[in-house]
Amino acid sequence: MIKSFLNKKHIISSVVATMLLSGCFGGTSEEKEVKNTKTITENVQDIKDSSKEIASQVVQNTKSQTSQIVEKVQDKASDVADNVKETTSKVVEKAKDTASDVATNVKETTVIVVEKTTEKIEEVLPSSTPAIDTTKLYSKCIACHGTNGEKIALGKSKIIKDMSQDDFIAALQGYQNGTYGGSMKGVMGGQVKGLSEDEIKALASHIIK
Ligand code: HEC
Repeated sequence: MIKSFLNKKHIISSVVATMLLSGCFGGTSEEKEVKNTKTITENVQDIKDSSKEIASQVVQNTKSQTSQIVEKVQDKASDVADNVKETTSKVVEKAKDTASDVATNVKETTVIVVEKTTEKIEEVLPSSTPAIDTTKLYSKCIACHGTNGEKIALGKSKIIKDMSQDDFIAALQGYQNGTYGGSMKGVMGGQVKGLSEDEIKALASHIIK
């Protein structure tokens, strides 16, 4: 830059010199004119040379600066690329970790849910194994005991809807094993044969509220 500045100075002084020369010796004499013309030609040549030099220096400077800029940009770009790589791999790792955490949690939760559900189903199943159709079971009893257990069967039995559930259950189980009943217990023995404990309990809660 200083060099080119000096060169610019050089050009300017050449131009000034040319002007001075042409001005000072500006006479009507042809010899002087020729001399002046020569000097001007020389100066013009000088200016041309200087310009070339300046131009080539400018080009060189521009080249070296450009290459420096390019290098810097390349460095920065590679830095950025490195950072992006690192960050990306970190992000990927985190995502993997999180995903596996989530997967583990989901697995664990699913297992727990399945266990809990199974427990609940097991809890609910026995009591609600109402493969017992109480209405159908009691339909056999209606003729003698009435739709709601309100009749005295064959003029002999108690009104069964007024019994306690415990007494009702004990009576039916007694008829089953022959430990309960009056003179007509034989009738009831045939009725309760084959009833399960659960069916007897279901009948009790069906008739006695
Ligand atoms: C054919 C008529 C008849 C039918 C059907 C019948 N019972 Fe009876 N039930 C009787 C008679 C009669 C007695 C009284 C028997 C005795 O002497 O102990 C009786 C007694 C009972 C008793 C005891 C009450 C008491 O007097 O101590 C219960 C409980 C009972 N029956 C429930 C039923 C149920 C439940 C059914 C249907 C599964 C049923 N019975 C079907 C006639 C019947």
